[in-house]
Amino acid sequence: MKPAEPIYLDHAATTPTDPQVVEAMLPYFSQVYGNPSSSHRFGRRAEDAVERARDSVAQLLNCARDEIIFTSCGTESDNLALRGVALRAIAEGKRAHIFTAHTEHHAVSRTAEQLARLNLARLTWLTPEPDGTIAPHTLQAALQRLQPDEIGLVSVMYANNEIGTVQPIAALSDVARAHGALFHTDAVQAAGQLSLDVRALGVDMLALSAHKFYGPKGVGLLYVRRGVALYSAQTGGGQEHHLRAGTHNVPLIVGMARALELAYADLPARVAHYTHLRDRLIDGVLSSVPGAQLTGAEKARRLPNHASFTFAGIEANALLMYLDLNGIAASSGSACNTGNPQPSDVLLAIGLAPEQALGSLRLTVGKQNTAAEIDYALQMLQVAVERLRKVRQAHGIA
Ligand SMILES: Cc1ncc(COP(=O)(O)O)c(C=O)c1O
Repeated sequence: MKPAEPIYLDHAATTPTDPQVVEAMLPYFSQVYGNPSSSHRFGRRAEDAVERARDSVAQLLNCARDEIIFTSCGTESDNLALRGVALRAIAEGKRAHIFTAHTEHHAVSRTAEQLARLNLARLTWLTPEPDGTIAPHTLQAALQRLQPDEIGLVSVMYANNEIGTVQPIAALSDVARAHGALFHTDAVQAAGQLSLDVRALGVDMLALSAHKFYGPKGVGLLYVRRGVALYSAQTGGGQEHHLRAGTHNVPLIVGMARALELAYADLPARVAHYTHLRDRLIDGVLSSVPGAQLTGAEKARRLPNHASFTFAGIEANALLMYLDLNGIAASSGSACNTGNPQPSDVLLAIGLAPEQALGSLRLTVGKQNTAAEIDYALQMLQVAVERLRKVRQAHGIA
């Protein structure tokens, strides 16, 4: 039976803002509304709030407060990391050499491509393993191409948004360091699920976005290790150590810090809940839907809340529509432009054929999901795949 309330299984796309986060933000819209850059008492109160948020975030990331740069989103943080290094290299009469992969979010891969196209950086693509992992030996081999007059920058995400694969970040950052290259990680999907201890990870830069961990949309941060020199990608005022001009968004920064505190206060219980539901999904799909294949890494090396599949002979957009009509919100890796779906770069990069990639489905669980919801989703999925295959057969499509 169709559920009374739709079931949200798309937490990798975004999460609802936690009511405790909304409560923490509210005073900063119309009570404490000063500009943190103003020197009067209104400004000082707002600045206090921003700096308390910075302290709280820094504690969680195990870094110093001046290593946190507040931004407007994960995309901006990734852009600042890559452009910041590339522009700094140019300013010093050198050139950046970026090492990254097609499995990265477009915030990284397209930024790297643009910098290379404009001749502002050299670019080397890293080939992922079939499960999406970037193997340390692959990075090691690629870094042989780094020239003495280049500033090396490796950008490998902590966990993949489409296929859930968790990367061996500490091992990869060791390899980068041994070659004198900087290491940036997009940790947008990892937040609220994996440790964000930047010292243990050995990273020079790390990007986060609040809306993926029950915080508000439109705010993010970039951790930048002391001693890593960036050139500002956005010019204007002197905010954030002259690295990110623009008046601070005080309520959202406060909200992001509160969301991060909450996410890590109950991490083990949250991860156990996610893992239980995810495994029920993965085991259920693989045992009950013929032609289903898990994409990305095996359970032990994927995000606790992430299940992703391809279904032979299925067109993902039709599947998503069917699920939506039956009360389930999910997503696929294919971007649909004017009715002409394009296979995802990530799925092609791990070796899927375009028709396989077009049959992809991602289900990502969250705090509010229940086992009963997962069982309903499994039932619906089985029916949907069977019906859609019959429709294709009736139209003579293999
Ligand atoms: C891995 C990854 N990086 C970056 C982003 C972009 O974050 P934002 O939506 O805050 O720009 C996303 C969002 O989907 C993501 O999944």
